[in-house]
This record gives sequence, C-alpha cells and structure tokens, in this order.
Amino acid sequence: MTDENPKQQQALLEEIEQAKAEWEQKTLQPILDKYGVRRDEFNLSDGAPVDLLYGPQDTAELDYLDDLGFPGQYPFTRGIQPTMYRGRLWTMRQYAGFGTAAESNQRYKYLLDQGTTGLSVAFDLPTQMGFDSDSPRAQGEVGKVGVAIDSIADMETLFDEIPLDKVSTSMTINSTAAILLSLYIAVGEQQGVDASKLRGTIQNDLLKEYIARGTYIYPPRASMRIITDIFGFCKDEVPRWNTISISGYHIREAGSTAAQEVGFTLANGIAYVESALESGLDIDNFAGRLSFFFNVHNNFLEEVAKFRAARRLWARIVKERFGAKKERSMRLRFHSQTAGSTLTAQQPKVNVVRVALQALASVLGGTQSLHTNSWDEALSLPNEDAVRLALRTQQVIAHESGVADFIDPLAGSYAVESLTDRIEEEARAYIERIDDLGGAVAGIEKGFQQSEIQEAAYQAQLRQERGEDIIVGVNEFQTGHQPPEDLLRVDEKVERSQVERLREFKASRAQDDVDKARAALKKAAEGSDNLMPHILNAVKKKVTLGEISDTLREVFGEYVERVVL
Ligand code: 3HC
Repeated sequence: MTDENPKQQQALLEEIEQAKAEWEQKTLQPILDKYGVRRDEFNLSDGAPVDLLYGPQDTAELDYLDDLGFPGQYPFTRGIQPTMYRGRLWTMRQYAGFGTAAESNQRYKYLLDQGTTGLSVAFDLPTQMGFDSDSPRAQGEVGKVGVAIDSIADMETLFDEIPLDKVSTSMTINSTAAILLSLYIAVGEQQGVDASKLRGTIQNDLLKEYIARGTYIYPPRASMRIITDIFGFCKDEVPRWNTISISGYHIREAGSTAAQEVGFTLANGIAYVESALESGLDIDNFAGRLSFFFNVHNNFLEEVAKFRAARRLWARIVKERFGAKKERSMRLRFHSQTAGSTLTAQQPKVNVVRVALQALASVLGGTQSLHTNSWDEALSLPNEDAVRLALRTQQVIAHESGVADFIDPLAGSYAVESLTDRIEEEARAYIERIDDLGGAVAGIEKGFQQSEIQEAAYQAQLRQERGEDIIVGVNEFQTGHQPPEDLLRVDEKVERSQVERLREFKASRAQDDVDKARAALKKAAEGSDNLMPHILNAVKKKVTLGEISDTLREVFGEYVERVVL
C-alpha cells in the first residue's frame, strides 16, 4: 500500500474489513456450521496457522518501492536480474558423482549431452573428510556417496574431454575445498585455461557442517581461516569463482523450519562476512562472489515466499549492517535442490510429482541454479533413466509451462507477500538471538542452532505421527511395497581399483618434491600466510589430498564436537 492519501487507504481498508465481517457472518459461518473444515489446523513448516483467507489487510503495510522494488535492483525481492529468466534460464545443475573419476566423467558427459547446463560434483566421504582412498578410515566408503578424488591424476580424469573454459562447475566440498579448488585450477592450467577464466563454486561452508552435516575436520576458527584465505586468493586469481555456497539445504534436511533455514543460513553468512572483513578484505571486493544454497521443500507457497524473504533480508543486511556500496554485493544468488528428505521409498515413482512441484516453487522463487532429485534417490544413487527424468522435469517447467516468461509472478499475492514478510521477520529474530549469543560460531559452540533444529524436527515428526501431516504412501494411501529392481549399485571393485591407481601414482612421484611442498605448507599454516598458493603448489607436486589434509591436521588438530547436554 503506498503512503499517498493514507486517510483514503484507511477508509478503504475499514470498508473491506466491514464487508469481510458480513461475509464471515452471512456466507462463511453457515457453511462452517454445516460442513466444517477437513482439518482442525492448517499449518506452515513451523506449525504456525495458515489463515483461512488472505486479503488487503495482510499487505496494508507493504510499501512497493521499499519492500519489493524492481528485479535486478535493491532489495532484489523480485529477483536479482532485471530480466530474470527472460534473459537467461536458471542453470540446470544436476548433482552427480560416484565410483571412480572415470565413471563420474562418463556421467557428466551424459548429463551435458542431455541438456544440463552446469556441472555439480559429488565427492565420496573420504575425499570430503580428507582421507586418501588407501587410508584405513576410508575403508568401505571409497566411491560410495560420490566420486573418489585423491590426486591431480584423478582430477584430470574427472574432467577428461570437458573444456573448463566452457562449463561452470560446482563442487560440494567443504573441509577440503581449498584442495579441490587447487586441483581444479591445476587441471585448468593443463587444459590451457587460465584461472581467471574458470567459473564455478565450492561449497566451502563449514559452519553448516558443525550445525547439521558433520563433514568437518579442523576446529571452527581454523576452518574460518582457510575459508577467508580462499576469499582472498580468489579475489585476485580466480575472480569469476564463487568462493562459498552458504548452505541452508542441510539445515532444512536436518528438520529446521523455513524461517530457521533462512535465519541460520544468513547468520552463517554474516559470520563469513565478518571473518573476511577482519582479515582486511573490503565488503565490496568479495561479497559479490558469495553465493547461497537452499532447500526447496513441500509447502509450495511458503517456499516461494522463503526465497523472496531471503533475498530481501540479505540485501538489507549487506547494505545496512556492512555498508556495502555496490548493488552487486547485496544480491543473494542461490542454487536450490529439491528436498531429499521428502522423497519416499514407498511408491517411489510418486517422488516425480513431489520434485516437479518443488522445482516449480524454486523457479517461482527466482533460483539461479537448480538440482532436481531423481525419484529413486530415497533408495540409491540415481540411475541414468531417473536422472534424465529429473532433468526433463526442469526442461518442461522451463520450456512448456510458461512460468519462465514471467518475472516474480506471485508478487502482490496477499498470501505470498504476507508469508514473505513473516519469514523475513522470523529469520531476522533468529539472527538477533544469534547475535546476542556472540555470532554463529559462538551459537554453534553453545549448541543453539542445533537444539532449535532438533525441536523443530521433533514437532514435525509428531505432526506426521498424529496424521496431521500426510505423507502420501507413507502414513496415508499405502500400498504393498516392492523396491524397484534396476537400482544403481556402486561396484565393490571400485575401492580396490582406486587404491591400486593411488599406489601407482605415489610410486611415480619425486618424493623430494612432495616432502618440500608439505614442509612449505606446514610452515605457512603455522604462520599467517595465505594457504592457497602452498596448497596449489602441493597438488602440482603430486601431494595427495590425504597428505595435504594430514599436514594441516598436524598444525590445526581435529575438531571433536562437545556433547551439548
Ligand atoms: N541477465 C543477464 N545476465 C544473467 C542473467 C540475466 N537474466 N541470468 C544470469 N546471468 C549471468 C550471471 O550474472 C552470471 O554472470 P557473472 O558470473 O558474470 O555474474 C552468468 O549469467 C551465470 O549466471 P548465474 O551466476 O546466475 O548462474 P550459475 O549457475 O553460474 O551460478 C550460483 C549460480 C548460485 C551463483 C552458483 O554459486 C552455483 O552454481 N551454485 C551451485 C551450488 C551447487 O550446485 N551446490 C550443490 C550442492 S549439493 C549438496 O550439498 C547436497 C548434498 O549434500 C546432498
């Protein structure tokens, strides 16, 4: 509602309120008396009630220019690009990786052939946790939940015949992100692609690992140092690289509400910004390359509102709290993935419908990049048919539904604008509580975010067990459950072949080069040098991921989570 002639506006609102009261009495109440409603409560992800009818009173405070504005302009509520998908569709970026680098390379080529427009690498747990495939701590996990990468030889194979100046590659890697980025730069050089031309993203978001996912290695403060070293290095050497993907996805998968997903993720973003500022970086020199990663969950309208609220809140934080001058610094650019936790093993083909609705919510919410889950992912890593159908889901939304021709089409909806305001307010309140605790790192050390998520997850579980939240095929509409036959299985031989390849690689190296590179890295870690140049040198001298990680363990130690009673 604009500020002009407030008296007229107020009179109009009162008139509508009176008319609504009459409607409630004469039209609504008789129907309620006669038929009632199908549920006692209708609620959002945090259990808050969904109003029976949203109307002008719910957007009376909305100021178009302050709260919505125009796409590509502060506060970016309506999208970060002036033309949004009319200028360029979101990137269709399917998260993929399993087994050996050669097997994953084949899958990437298949996806590119099927029309995917960005790569997204999943790494196995040993790679994520800083162990080589021949480590006793890697046993049984090599190549399981992602691709096994030990060395520069594996990275060369992973991107064989994939020109790194033509693709943008996301790497879901956190504790060892500096090593994988260095490997990517080194392979780019081997392809004749200068680091300044490389485009992509590393997740590099350790705070959410302490909160929700667990693939951390070093204590929080050491992790923050590595992360800000990456910011500083990429600002000059890899300017088109997105240095972090501040993730809400896993926070939501752990059971958070929509508002917690936004609040805790942006609180982590604030911690990264503060850490970068403390290291001497200027907000307008790095904030433009921060990116985000959100979940797309089931409540369709709440999810559309969630993305709009997150964009507006982050823009206000970067401008008002951190004094950014460049609008580019204030844009919340995000990747989204449909919610893995909503996929069911029961009647798994029904997941295609869930993913399609979630993907549509993400597009209506203005995502820059999207991964659609495959229907079989509740049971195994996706096979080619399932992955192709997941990608086709995005292509149908993009090319057949017509929604990509509109910019923020749900703007002005009483319900969506009301939900957008509500999520922004709730998320801001969580950020204020975390500020009072001393910031995200302190909050994590006190277990605040973790306990809030656990409580939200518990309440959602209760609603599901009481049948208030219906999960089709799980607590309603069940049928006999026959698991599908053609599930993808990672061959046990992967581990043996990977370990053999690593043994040959290590035998081929100049050990003196390896030792010198490790010593230089250790010295840098003990001092205050930026670690990236030393890690880049190490991978080029054929030091393995596990050896680099062990060198840093010697200096930083390993983080052991204190049990919060
Ligand atoms: N008009 C003009 N220019 C436009 C445009 C338009 N309408 N739309 C896009 N562009 C430009 C952009 O500005 C950009 O150019 P720039 O780099 O010079 O700014 C270029 O086109 C590419 O557009 P985007 O940057 O919007 O798209 P990308 O796909 O390249 O990047 C991102 C998107 C969110 C910024 C990036 O960080 C990204 O790709 N993130 C992906 C993260 C990811 O895939 N994570 C997977 C995690 S899986 C996981 O963790 C789950 C597991 O644990 C279970």
